[in-house]
Amino acid sequence: MGRNATRTGLPGNRLVVGISGASGAIYGIRLLEALGELGVESHLVISKAAQLTIRCETSLEIKAVAAKADFSYAVGDMAAPIASGSFRTKGMIVAPCSVRTMSEIAAGVTTTLLTRAADVVLKERRTLVLMVRETPLHLGHLRTMTALTEMGAVILPPVPAFYALPNTLEDLVDHTVARALDSFGYDWPKAKRWGEGPPEAASGDRRSGSPRKSRSKKA
Ligand SMILES: Cc1cc2nc3c(=O)[nH]c(=O)nc-3n(C[C@H](O)[C@H](O)[C@H](O)COP(=O)(O)O)c2cc1C
Repeated sequence: MGRNATRTGLPGNRLVVGISGASGAIYGIRLLEALGELGVESHLVISKAAQLTIRCETSLEIKAVAAKADFSYAVGDMAAPIASGSFRTKGMIVAPCSVRTMSEIAAGVTTTLLTRAADVVLKERRTLVLMVRETPLHLGHLRTMTALTEMGAVILPPVPAFYALPNTLEDLVDHTVARALDSFGYDWPKAKRWGEGPPEAASGDRRSGSPRKSRSKKA
């Protein structure tokens, strides 16, 4: 199932995408669209709770989301290629990542294909980006994020960047998706990059508040 049934066989051009049941299913959906535009082969797994959030937060059927990926797998399919380290990929993004999924990955508990695929990415020392979405955070959440960072994962919460001067919700989502793709070296042109846009954007002319006098580094 998916937008393109041809395997490229190029591990550097292959990414696993997990959509778990945190709010912000749109991040995973836009990520799949971005990978399609970049020509990166996507391998998708959607958690059961994410099927609920997709229904709550978007007008898309689960099948329509799955069709945006090159390959999609049932969350219980432990025989899927992405369950094995021998299936080479560039890594994995979980977008959005729920606290439950984050905690399961941190503990090495792999009861679903989503968490198994993430565990594989960690054990193979590939890049794992977790777009963890919850607020506020308690100490246990923060400790789990620390543990995952120590294991090599990238904790990348979907926090909007207002310096990009977003006009729409799509602008906000796309900027975060582009920053997540940066972790893999994929340059999705939807990102408005600090210092790389039109000069007036960097000098503050479009803002209603005080213009900045000098540029500073932004994340
Ligand atoms: C509409 C909706 C929004 C939710 N938002 C969040 C959230 O932002 N973060 C979170 O950790 N869990 C959130 N949850 C709860 C998770 O879906 C729940 O913990 C679930 O067990 C996660 O399972 P999964 O990690 O297998 O997807 C939300 C649930 C619903 C129904």
